[in-house]
Amino acid sequence: MIEVAGLTKTYGRVRAVDDLSFVVRPGRVTGFLGPNGAGKSTTMRLILGLDTPTAGTATVGGRRYRDLERPLTRVGALLDAKWVHPNRTARNHLRWMAAANGIPSERVDVCLALVGLSEVAHKRAGGFSLGMSQRLGLAAALLGDPGVLLFDEPVNGLDPEGIVWVRGFMKSLAAQGHTVLVSSHLLSEMALTADDVVIVGRGRLVWHGAMADFIAQHSESSVRVRSPRAEELSRALALRGVAVAATGEPGVLTVTGVSTDVVGDIAAAAGIVVHELAGRTTSLEEAFMRLTAGAVEYHGGMVA
Ligand SMILES: Nc1ncnc2c1ncn2[C@@H]1O[C@H](COP(=O)(O)OP(=O)(O)O)[C@@H](O)[C@H]1O
Ligand SMILES: [Mg+2]
Repeated sequence: MIEVAGLTKTYGRVRAVDDLSFVVRPGRVTGFLGPNGAGKSTTMRLILGLDTPTAGTATVGGRRYRDLERPLTRVGALLDAKWVHPNRTARNHLRWMAAANGIPSERVDVCLALVGLSEVAHKRAGGFSLGMSQRLGLAAALLGDPGVLLFDEPVNGLDPEGIVWVRGFMKSLAAQGHTVLVSSHLLSEMALTADDVVIVGRGRLVWHGAMADFIAQHSESSVRVRSPRAEELSRALALRGVAVAATGEPGVLTVTGVSTDVVGDIAAAAGIVVHELAGRTTSLEEAFMRLTAGAVEYHGGMVA
């Protein structure tokens, strides 16, 4: 479990992280979302002890990173995939890391296999594609078999196949009981992967909870229905307690709160012909932008 409490980090006049508190639980993928500059990478660096908080605490399993014994066996992280030594092979890069951290060398091939790099283990990491470097970074994060994993924008720049693979990989780690915190600036990306979500805007927490709850609270679905007998259909729907509104367009109604199935069934039961019936969901991305933009408005991100 990761616990962040009152975490604050200022750089000069910029409040990169502002009184942030949240908990990341094991067995779930937690999406850490916010637009660029929202403070995600800074928060991850603070959790990993790579930077010192101005105020507040970040702990893993109740302890600060710097107080952990053999930290690589507790916390694994992928912050920047391009930090490998370009002339080392993938296997040698991991062997060097394992040796430096007292991790048995057998673990190297296990981790290369986990991320699908066994066949290129003998190749120079400098020649790797972004997708392969990303996988090598994931292998390095897993080297100490840690229970807690942090990934900073792991799908950035990956092709669709790589993105699908990373998503599946995160989910399988969580299913094995790991605590997985993964950042992204795209809600659409996380909507498919994350069980929980922590949303930040300008260093501040704007939403924290289950992704399903976020989706339920922030997506509004409506149904567009066009019929030559729109007025009668409107009455039939209203009689069933369905919210219906006329649009500017002749013969077109907007129905909210029910699915296209329900609208079609009511129309059929009333013997009313329908020429068009379509569901529309307002994008979650819009809700996400509204929320995080709000944080920008209410708080300039600057220390007063
Ligand atoms: N080392 C640093 N020195 C000065 N400002 C920084 C530093 N690191 C981050 N910042 C600033 O803190 C804010 C948050 O940045 P960051 O944590 O990288 O956001 P994110 O990862 O969400 O895009 C930004 O305004 C950024 O410019
Ligand atoms: Mg970042």
